[in-house]
Amino acid sequence: MKVTVYALPALVPAGTPGPAVVIDVLRATSVMVTALAHGARSVRPVAEIEEAKALAAAFPPGTALCGGERRALPIPGFALGNSPLEYTPEKVAGKTIILTTTNGTRALAALRQVEPLFIGAFLNARAVARTLAQLGRDAALVCSGTRGRFSLDDVACAGLIVAHLKAFVPGLELDDLAYASLVLYETHRSNLRELIAHAGHYQYLISIGLEPDIAYCLKQDIFDLVPRAVAGEVTV
Ligand code: MLT
Repeated sequence: MKVTVYALPALVPAGTPGPAVVIDVLRATSVMVTALAHGARSVRPVAEIEEAKALAAAFPPGTALCGGERRALPIPGFALGNSPLEYTPEKVAGKTIILTTTNGTRALAALRQVEPLFIGAFLNARAVARTLAQLGRDAALVCSGTRGRFSLDDVACAGLIVAHLKAFVPGLELDDLAYASLVLYETHRSNLRELIAHAGHYQYLISIGLEPDIAYCLKQDIFDLVPRAVAGEVTV
């Protein structure tokens, strides 16, 4: 079994077979994992704000909530922003979350032909690795990046998934970036925060007061679930 890590969705060759995992640690995939762990019925990622509103209008009243961000800030009129800490069981249990974000939901859209397509974050890294090991097929870990640029936090998370996968799969083969992500993670595992403080998006989130989100998104393996995207809907 071989694992390949892509720094950006645009680098994934057309026709790449699944399984693949989309990673957007800060913060879209951390939000999806949290919402589903807290009982949301599903997450419907959409690219545009107007699309989110139109989709929400098609649900019976009270059953769907719009969430997401632009420039990491809440979208006016939406029930939820893009802070995973907002996605409490009290707010999201039983609801469909219609989510639009700058990078994460677009990465998912770019990979919609890939099957199976999973959602990964630090929060559920071990569960993702276990699922890939059980499938036993060559796998792609796809970092969402930030506005088309490499993002340290996503690649470090890929490194944690690779580290878990190596423990599950003896003789696991790694491509160059999978190896680099593993070394990056292992070198900084005792102080991930110090590494990720160099990420541009980290610094932006700190500048707008979102430190608690970062502390949360860097928690490792707190959820044992692997969301999967099928036909535009993410469920567990
Ligand atoms: C995204 O998908 O672009 C991110 O989740 C942005 C953010 O941190 O809100």
